[in-house]
Amino acid sequence: MGLVTAVGLANTGKDVICIDNNPEKIEQIKKGHLPIYEPGLEELLIKNLARIEATSDSKAAVWDSDVIFIAVGTPFNGEQIDLSYLKQAAKEIGNALKQSNGYKTIVVKSTVIPGTTLDVVRPIVLRQSGKTDDEIGFAMNPEFLREGNAVEDFMFPDRIVLGVTSGRVENTLRAVYSGFTRTEILITNPTTAEMIKYTANSFLALTISYANEIARICEKLIEVDSEEVFRGVIMDKRISPIINGKRITPGIASYLRAGIGFGGSCFPKDVKALEAYSNSIKVDGKLLSGLLYINETQLMHVFQTGLEKHKGKVKQITILGTAFKPDTDDIRESPGIRLAELALENSINVAVHDYIAINNTKKHFGDKVEYFEEPLEAIRTSDIVFVTTIWPQYQLITDEDFEKNLKKDAILVDTRSHFKERSDKPWRYRIGVSR
Ligand code: UDX
Repeated sequence: MGLVTAVGLANTGKDVICIDNNPEKIEQIKKGHLPIYEPGLEELLIKNLARIEATSDSKAAVWDSDVIFIAVGTPFNGEQIDLSYLKQAAKEIGNALKQSNGYKTIVVKSTVIPGTTLDVVRPIVLRQSGKTDDEIGFAMNPEFLREGNAVEDFMFPDRIVLGVTSGRVENTLRAVYSGFTRTEILITNPTTAEMIKYTANSFLALTISYANEIARICEKLIEVDSEEVFRGVIMDKRISPIINGKRITPGIASYLRAGIGFGGSCFPKDVKALEAYSNSIKVDGKLLSGLLYINETQLMHVFQTGLEKHKGKVKQITILGTAFKPDTDDIRESPGIRLAELALENSINVAVHDYIAINNTKKHFGDKVEYFEEPLEAIRTSDIVFVTTIWPQYQLITDEDFEKNLKKDAILVDTRSHFKERSDKPWRYRIGVSR
């Protein structure tokens, strides 16, 4: 997120300095190489390299900048959000500001629980720097980037949310985002901005869990496909308005779909952090805990569906897709990875395939699973094949290909309705459909 923001702002003509305490990452960025996989980002980095500096010297970088964005990680530590990296960054910035001149604006971009910018970051920076609110401004500016789509999401944002502490800070940030003349800007206070980010992510996560609970009901009925149920629901004109005789299908429709549950670096940690925060302030967050429970159990549900539908002993499964979604090499909280772990815990061998995430998968599993470069090779010796990531390339595999390569009596469990357009086959099961 930090790098996408840096490159994206540089692309609108701003001079940007990237600070990271990992010298390897700094060297890579200087050479125009990406430390992560993100479509389109490397090209944009190379194009704007003249406007992008990268350094581990935070002091000089902070002195030279008018606006300092904090984009460090805020992981969930099992009980609550871990703000240690954020506090460290705030301390470093405060120290650097001791000897600096001129007005500075500190912007929190990391996802943080409500109140963090004003009650955690601001006091640390002011204390460390010895300065006052007249010399330093604070803001919270959440990001809404999707991995795999981050460049497009940055260049064509649906909204820019600026949680500011004064008119001066607002003007400074409007100038930072001056390249986005067509985008609606929401001006609010930092705590509301923090809450917007959590509410947005938990809302999207909620729709996924809702779809999965409905799907489990549909599976128990006769001849009901949850895809069709949701198609009917989405036709409500309050969800998909009809404008000039044409129905506008909302983007949310793709989240309202039965599957294997959500993963990735954001939804699981953000919903857990909001749930923990709501408990800490004595708000009984049943909906948040419920949606997390559904997500947790959906994985087991998918696994058991496979075991039930397969006639006979299951010795090996194949996971087609270990990335938590297509176009990323990120395997954090990935359903494919978690399903593989579940199988290993049940003494079932695992074969895996992915197009981009295989190196990260190797780092995660070592020699505990078998790796394949071709999906059809990965399925040959397995009893159950789980399609867990909707890589478009899997669509190119025909049913004849599957039939030729699947072992006798083997089945395929389509956990994400990737093959919903295809005709029924006795060896293929889809999550969310009664059969
Ligand atoms: C998410 C938010 O979408 C983004 O706005 C925020 O800034 C960061 O968190 P990201 O985690 O990258 O972004 O990906 P997203 O595409 O939203 O996927 C999250 C989970 O939802 C994945 O497990 C994915 O499989 C699932 N998902 C995604 C769906 O079920 N349906 C979809 O249409 C898209």
